[in-house]
Amino acid sequence: MNYSKRVANIPKSAIHEMTRLSKQIEDVAFLSWAKPTSGAPDHIGKAAIEAIKKGLVDGYADGLGLLELRQEIARKLRRDNHINANPAQIMVTVGAIEGIAAAVMATIDPGDEVILPSPTYSTHINQVLLASGKPVFAPTIEEQGFMLDIEAIRKAITPRSKAILYCSPSNPTGTVFREQQLRQLAEIALEHNLMVITDEAYEYFVFDDHKHFSIASIPEMKKNVVSCFTFTKTYAMTGWRIGYLHADEELIPQINKAHIPFAICVSVVSQYAALAALKESQDCVAGFRQKYLSARNLMCQRLDHLNLIFEYQKPGGSYLMFPKILVAEGKNSKTFCEKLLREAKVSTTPGVDFGPTGEGHLRLSFCVPEEMINKAFDRMEVYFKNESG
Ligand SMILES: Cc1ncc(COP(=O)(O)O)c(C=O)c1O
Repeated sequence: MNYSKRVANIPKSAIHEMTRLSKQIEDVAFLSWAKPTSGAPDHIGKAAIEAIKKGLVDGYADGLGLLELRQEIARKLRRDNHINANPAQIMVTVGAIEGIAAAVMATIDPGDEVILPSPTYSTHINQVLLASGKPVFAPTIEEQGFMLDIEAIRKAITPRSKAILYCSPSNPTGTVFREQQLRQLAEIALEHNLMVITDEAYEYFVFDDHKHFSIASIPEMKKNVVSCFTFTKTYAMTGWRIGYLHADEELIPQINKAHIPFAICVSVVSQYAALAALKESQDCVAGFRQKYLSARNLMCQRLDHLNLIFEYQKPGGSYLMFPKILVAEGKNSKTFCEKLLREAKVSTTPGVDFGPTGEGHLRLSFCVPEEMINKAFDRMEVYFKNESG
């Protein structure tokens, strides 16, 4: 077969592999996906139907997105993220993921190094590989809840470093990077003229005393940040495939050149749905947050009963957590998770997918109904009791 070395270099996703294996087993307790299980609120679908009836959605939109939508996004970025945004600094993207891919393509040359605080979202690693860049992992500090290790980032910098790519709140750990640390990160970026590409997909899902901070709100960073956001998580709009990014107005046309060959523009009906999501009541977001908080607390309680098997850091955000596997078989997270699926009918994601420091862990999603969490942990309690007994 003829395929590029670039694509051959990209490892198979364990998330998709676990999904495939899970489909072969009946009645699986499924904790593998970082995907809202609720549907989008009704008013969003109604706005989309309205736009179809009015005949607004059959053509292409501007590659940057509908102006009215970008105006509304700029308003949201000023209000919630304290980013001094205007529509010329915004591009609507096919979810956050295509925005990050386009930002990486537009800023990375072959051989450039991209620093990733690790563990990190596996797709980010693949996006760097797809741009023929080199992922360089800077481990986070697990004992401090997978906090950013500023010294590790400094040490990772070489003359080939071009960018730092992070997500906060984090997939897979649920860590919310603190403002003070992100300010230090900004200083490093400015000192070495590095781009910072952020994935802020879970910006609204932060718990306890944690606060989401957008590094682009630091005025000096104006030319050094591309910030990526999404409707997927905030409004449970996974299938609508719509997100957006913010960057300096001089960089936007370059990123748009990377976006057009893959997308031309974002589905227009989704842009009208997103407009309604931003303009109408935000109560649904608070409702989702409350649901995830309660599910997080339940999952932590259930993990407390398995403290000989797992050790966990309480996630401050997102709807994911990343326990360390204490038993010997956990050293190979892929084998461990596949056995757990086959023998206990619980589907999780092996930590090895999330960079080298992810090995020995597994990712659990609490974005599922509470009955699913209870079902998974009831099964695991029986399974591990039998295993050890
Ligand atoms: C950190 C992170 N970024 C991006 C995405 C994908 O988001 P979107 O649907 O907006 O492309 C996910 C999905 O799980 C995610 O966890």
